Amino acid sequence: MNTRHTPVCIIGAGPAGLLLGHLLRAEGVECVVLEQRTPDYVLGRIRAGVLERITVSLLERLGLDQRLKAEGLPHDDVLLADGERLIRIDLADLVGQHVTVYGQTEVTRDLMAAAVPRGLPVIYGAEDVRLHDIAGDTPHVTYTHEGADHRIDARFIVGCDGFHGPSRRAIPVGIGREYERVYPFGWLGILADVPPCGAGLIYANHERGFALASQRSATRSRYYIDVPVTEDIANWPDDRLWDELETRLGPEAAATVTRGPSIEKSIAPLRSYVFAPMRHGSLLLCGDAAHIVPPTGAKGLNLAASDVYYAAEALTAFFLRHDNDAIPRYSDKALNRVWQAERFSWSLTRLMHRFPDDGPFERAMQVAELDYIATSRAAQLSFAEQYVGLPV
Ligand code: APR
Ligand code: PHB
Repeated sequence: MNTRHTPVCIIGAGPAGLLLGHLLRAEGVECVVLEQRTPDYVLGRIRAGVLERITVSLLERLGLDQRLKAEGLPHDDVLLADGERLIRIDLADLVGQHVTVYGQTEVTRDLMAAAVPRGLPVIYGAEDVRLHDIAGDTPHVTYTHEGADHRIDARFIVGCDGFHGPSRRAIPVGIGREYERVYPFGWLGILADVPPCGAGLIYANHERGFALASQRSATRSRYYIDVPVTEDIANWPDDRLWDELETRLGPEAAATVTRGPSIEKSIAPLRSYVFAPMRHGSLLLCGDAAHIVPPTGAKGLNLAASDVYYAAEALTAFFLRHDNDAIPRYSDKALNRVWQAERFSWSLTRLMHRFPDDGPFERAMQVAELDYIATSRAAQLSFAEQYVGLPV
């Protein structure tokens, strides 16, 4: 058994794990990142594309925002389509901020590319990762790599291993509590190398269902519609999908849609999920390991970023200032922001989708809320401050 000691062992080299590793490394806190997959596999996962201020600011702090600054697309507004009506939420005017469209896969790519030059040890192909003694005196992780057995003794283990990773499951039953809502639909997403819809970020609630218009660059577009979770993607050739998108986005937006062949098309389920607390003993959880949001609010990566911000703050306080109170505060600080993002994402999902069990009353409530947002600056301010991301 090959054994090493490190202050912090991070499980998972997705955006949360890599962001945390770089932040700790930049502060001089030693850590190692264990990733089960290969770099290409990690980068191959299609993800969303809207960055809040917190995510941009952490990349700026690390000096890893060059490509983001060059290729990221600032959006000063968001539109809500309701049939023929388009409601514009002017983020810049309301809260003096914008969001940045930049593929979350590109964030991972930038963090990955900087690991070796910055001396962040990331072990890819780490198999059978297991956590041990997470609430005891010898927290450690075991794994196999290239056929050899390894053990890492760490003062803290941070689970950044996503929803299906081992970290959350290492917390004994009865310690934590789960909160979950599984939605009765999924999002069928299409990526195409065509100029994006002229109106920018549009969320549409149409009688035929939900649609979202987004982009990856000035020449690459990203669109979604909601479909039953059981839907077979073979039922959605490109032409049918483009027809449906244009119908659901409404005539004004549809007039600026450019069609083209899909380069990626997939269906993703929607879920709201929280596991609390986000710490047990020497194990901290960050990102999808602790919570999932429906993509409606574009909160997934940004919530992982705020978890990482709080985790890095607590770990550096412990190691550099010998502050023993910081780690115990982590879970409550992270969860305060998690619950706000969960509520906003659930609420926007509820507002912009037609649920199978909804009747005329539920539809009337959607129309009333959209009317309120369309006519109330206070309602638009509330939407805007949550969409750009509440302060950390
Ligand atoms: N051992 C090692 N690594 C593991 C294991 C394991 N047993 N299980 C999972 N992993 C790795 C995955 O391969 C993945 O690279 O953990 C990483 C988890 O990354 P994500 O699932 O992207 O989760 P996170 O980093 O929290 O990112 C959260 O980012 O892209 C957005 O919207 C997306 O909500 C998501 C957010
Ligand atoms: C995306 O660009 O993929 C995207 C944008 C906004 C969302 C979800 C996904 O709410």
